[in-house]
Amino acid sequence: TRPLRILGIETSCDETAASVVLRHENGSGEIVSDVVLSQLEEHSAFGGVVPEIAARAHVEALDGLVRQALSQAGLTVHDVDAVAATSGPGLIGGLLVGLMTGKAIAMAANKPLYAINHLEGHALTARLTDGLEFPYLMLLVSGGHTQLVLVKGVGDYERWGTTIDDALGEAFDKTAKLLGLPYPGGPAVEKAARAGDASRFDFPRPLVGESRLDFSFSGLKTAVRQAATAIQPLSEQDIADICASFQRAISRTLKDRIGRGLARFQERYPTLQTPALVVAGGVAANQVLRATLQELCDHHRFRFIAPPIRLCTDNAAMIAWAGLERMAAGLPSDPISVAPRSRWPL
Ligand code: KG4
Ligand code: ZN
Repeated sequence: TRPLRILGIETSCDETAASVVLRHENGSGEIVSDVVLSQLEEHSAFGGVVPEIAARAHVEALDGLVRQALSQAGLTVHDVDAVAATSGPGLIGGLLVGLMTGKAIAMAANKPLYAINHLEGHALTARLTDGLEFPYLMLLVSGGHTQLVLVKGVGDYERWGTTIDDALGEAFDKTAKLLGLPYPGGPAVEKAARAGDASRFDFPRPLVGESRLDFSFSGLKTAVRQAATAIQPLSEQDIADICASFQRAISRTLKDRIGRGLARFQERYPTLQTPALVVAGGVAANQVLRATLQELCDHHRFRFIAPPIRLCTDNAAMIAWAGLERMAAGLPSDPISVAPRSRWPL
């Protein structure tokens, strides 16, 4: 039998994306096409994503990207078995564009529609890239989310920790802005930190030592602001030192928080042969973060899985794959009346 084929659409934040993915009979996935258009330039002048600009940009780009994804796969909408579109969480304008487009295609071609939770897309990506078996732990660190999730099965998740204030990527972005570094802040902070002295500032590590697995980054941002305003004018070396110290504080915080998560996982599944931690989200590009997680996993004898950056950041292949996983698991498709949800916990 031929593999299942699906068209995926992602528009929840500032990337417009479409992709065709296959699921072979043995359960393995194959990305046939995967096109992503980043709106970075539209938003950079504002130092953050502007929802109205994002929605308009999705409207302008999505039709062309869907066409491109299908033609690269050598298929038409009539050749796919289903359509999957992100229906939350995210910016409502963008979600409306993607979900309505998905509905229109599904209706016109008479295909089932899967309304996908964006977080489920991130959570299941490691099964597409690495064929990972359930259960495993997933750390999602992006501009909008910071969550530690136990992934037990398709549609079966337990959120073990979340941020009680800023997302980790947001902390990077705000720190960069405060220091006059360009948007998006993550890459700029990482670059500046390379020339910095990480021991110069002793920034706070919120929630370290607490048994619940949540995160908090707003206090860290405040400490950075205080350090920065105390030194004016800031030299390049000052900025580098602040960035390096900021990353060290994050690294220590994550070591504590995620370390506890790994220990809890081991208690829950004491006989599991190869436990694994998967990282996802744009902040997963950060080398200091990766090294920290790798070290932690080595220590706890976990496999550390970091999918290619392209699949860690927002993309439609993960949405398509989540749809395929739902199909293969026998979960129902969604009614055409399904509504997008700006808030939608896993
Ligand atoms: O997953 P993503 O592309 O978009 C969503 O937020 O959904 O993540 C973007 C976030 C931004 O906050 C950006 O500053 C951060 O990921 N980021 C980084 C790095 N590259 C991107 N943070 C730290 N270090 C990096 N190298
Ligand atoms: Zn995302």
